[in-house]
Amino acid sequence: MEPKDFDEKKFRDRVIGILESGRPEWDIPHTLATVYWIKELMAGESGDELVLVCAAYLHDIGYSLVEFTNDWDGIHQAKSDHMAKGAVMAGELVKDLPLSQGQQKEIVRLVAIHDKLEILSTKNEILLFEADSLGQIDIERVKSTFKGKDREKFLDSFQKRRIPRFRTEAGKRFVVSLWLRAKENC
Ligand SMILES: [Fe+2]
Ligand SMILES: [Fe+2]
Repeated sequence: MEPKDFDEKKFRDRVIGILESGRPEWDIPHTLATVYWIKELMAGESGDELVLVCAAYLHDIGYSLVEFTNDWDGIHQAKSDHMAKGAVMAGELVKDLPLSQGQQKEIVRLVAIHDKLEILSTKNEILLFEADSLGQIDIERVKSTFKGKDREKFLDSFQKRRIPRFRTEAGKRFVVSLWLRAKENC
């Protein structure tokens, strides 16, 4: 459970202020969708929800410091940079939260590796991966900024690289229904 002294609204406002310089029309709704989905997943899982909620807010914060073109190739070139820069920023932001050193370190670690899909294995890593992925295809909460060929590349990559990596039962259920709706809307 989240401690009473975690002021989520204040933290969300702070993060949104930073995400305004991230990927236009994407980073704010995608991040809020990722937070929504981590809470849905945690409803059926044990674990440190506060760590995962904070990691969900912060996971893509690095895009606000990375130079890139806002298309498929540009965003892919920015991938490792957004994790490295995001981890440094996350390290600063978590200092103001009511968290232990261990919790802070875990959040920073999750931000630093969240898109290295091949190495994700711990429960926290998998849960953040699933929430991040659901937050990419949840068309009720996030409108895709990829157009035409880029949209096709995104859907193809999502199907091949992300769907097979879902591990929780709830995550598998959610991804199937969101995926069908995202495809229909293509
Ligand atoms: Fe990311
Ligand atoms: Fe993300």
